[in-house]
Amino acid sequence: MTIYRGTFLDTPDNPFTGGTLRVDADAGLLVRDGVILARGAFGDVRRAHPAEDIVDLSGGLVLPGFVDTHVHFPQIRAVGGLGLPLLEWLDRYALPEEARMADVGYAAGVAAEFVRGLAAAGTTSALVFGAHYADAVDVLFSAASEVGLRITSGLVVSDRLLREDLLTTPVRAYTESLALAQRWHGVGRNRYAVTPRFSLSCTDDLLAACRRVLDEVPGSLFTSHVNENEAEIATVADLFGGSDYVSTYDKHGLVDRRSVLAHNVHPTDVDLKVLGETGAAVAHCPTSNAALGSGLFPLSRHLQYGVRVALGSDVGAGTGFSLLKEGLQAYFCQQLIGDQGFSLNSAHLLYLATAAGADALGLPEVGDLSVGKRFDAQLLRPADGSPLAVGVEHADDAEEALARIFTLGTSADVHAVWIDGELLHR
Ligand code: GUN
Ligand code: ZN
Repeated sequence: MTIYRGTFLDTPDNPFTGGTLRVDADAGLLVRDGVILARGAFGDVRRAHPAEDIVDLSGGLVLPGFVDTHVHFPQIRAVGGLGLPLLEWLDRYALPEEARMADVGYAAGVAAEFVRGLAAAGTTSALVFGAHYADAVDVLFSAASEVGLRITSGLVVSDRLLREDLLTTPVRAYTESLALAQRWHGVGRNRYAVTPRFSLSCTDDLLAACRRVLDEVPGSLFTSHVNENEAEIATVADLFGGSDYVSTYDKHGLVDRRSVLAHNVHPTDVDLKVLGETGAAVAHCPTSNAALGSGLFPLSRHLQYGVRVALGSDVGAGTGFSLLKEGLQAYFCQQLIGDQGFSLNSAHLLYLATAAGADALGLPEVGDLSVGKRFDAQLLRPADGSPLAVGVEHADDAEEALARIFTLGTSADVHAVWIDGELLHR
C-alpha cells in the first residue's frame, strides 16, 4: 500500500447542481491495488498506517486524471490546419491524413505519438475516434495498452460521400467491428466504441449494422458527430428527408446512455429533448468549434434539457490535447455567447474535464479521488518562477488557484500522471 501526501482538488459533487470544489490541503490518500482505501488529513492517515510507503506530492496540486470524451487518433499530424470550415477542412487536412492509416507501420508511429500526447496532457481516460482501417485501430489499442491508458475506441465507418479509400460496406463494417471488439473489448483497460463517422457519410443500412454491433457487444459505447456545422446539418437534412440530426441516429436505436455525440453546436429543441430523455451525453469541443468557426456551444440549453455534457479536445480540429485549454475556451465561449451564456467558474471547468467525462463514458470508478475510486490522478507542478507558479502562489484560495491553472496551465505543467496507482509520465 502507498500513502500519497499532497493537496487534492476534485469535484465529487456536480457544481452544476449545487456541488462545490473539494479542497484537501496536506491530505493523505491510502491506495492499494490502484484503489483509494482511505482519505483524510495526512497525519491521521499516517497514524492509522504507520508502516506504509509515502509518496510526497507536496509543492504541487493533485487533480483527478482528465477524461477526454472526443479525440481523433489519426489526426494528430493534422493539428493546426486553420482557416477552413468543417467540410472543407475534412477534405483538405483531416481525410488525406486518415487515408495514410492504410499503412499499418505509419499508423503505429502515429498511435505511439497519440498515446504519449494524451498521457503528457494529464489525460488518463479517453473516448477515441479510431481509424477507417481495422489494422490501424488494432495498433491504437496495442499502443494504449502499453502505456496503460483507459481507452474506448473503435473502427470508424462510412459508406458514402467521403473519398473512396475511406469507404466500407455495411457487411464489412459489421464483420470488422465485431472482430476488433472481440479482440479488445474488456481486455485490460480497453473498451469498444461503435463509431459511424457522421450520418452525412453513413447510409441507413450502415447505421443499422452499427446497431447490431452495439447489441452484440455488451458494455460497448456508441459515438459519432452531431449538429456541428450549418452546411453539414443542411446536407444531413437533405439526405434524411428533413429529419432533425439526432433522429438520424435515434431511429436506429443508437441514442441512449451508451451514446456520446460530439459538438451539438446547433441543436433543435427536439434534438435536446431526445438527448435529455435518453440520457445520451454530448462532448463539448470548444477549441475545435472556434478553430473551424462552427459556432458557440449553447450550454445553458443543454442544462435546461438535462443533457449530460463533458469536454473533448477533438484533436486534430481541436488545437491540442490539454483539457486545461479546452476548459478555458469553454469559459470564453460562454462569455461570448451573450445573455444565454453560462458563467463557468473553476469548479465547473474541473468537473467538465473529469467527473462529467467519467459519467459520460460510463466509468464510475474514476473522475474524482473519493474512497472506493481508482487512483487516476495528475500532479500539476509548474516550473519555479513561471507565470503559473506565481499565480498559484499568490491566489487567495483554491478556487482562484484552479482558475489560474485553467488560464495559464499547459501539458508542460503536468509533472506526473497515475492510472490505477501506476506512474505513467514524469
Ligand atoms: N465530422 C465528421 N468527421 C469529423 C472530424 O474528423 N472532425 C470534426 N470536428 N467533425 C467531424
Ligand atoms: Zn470529432
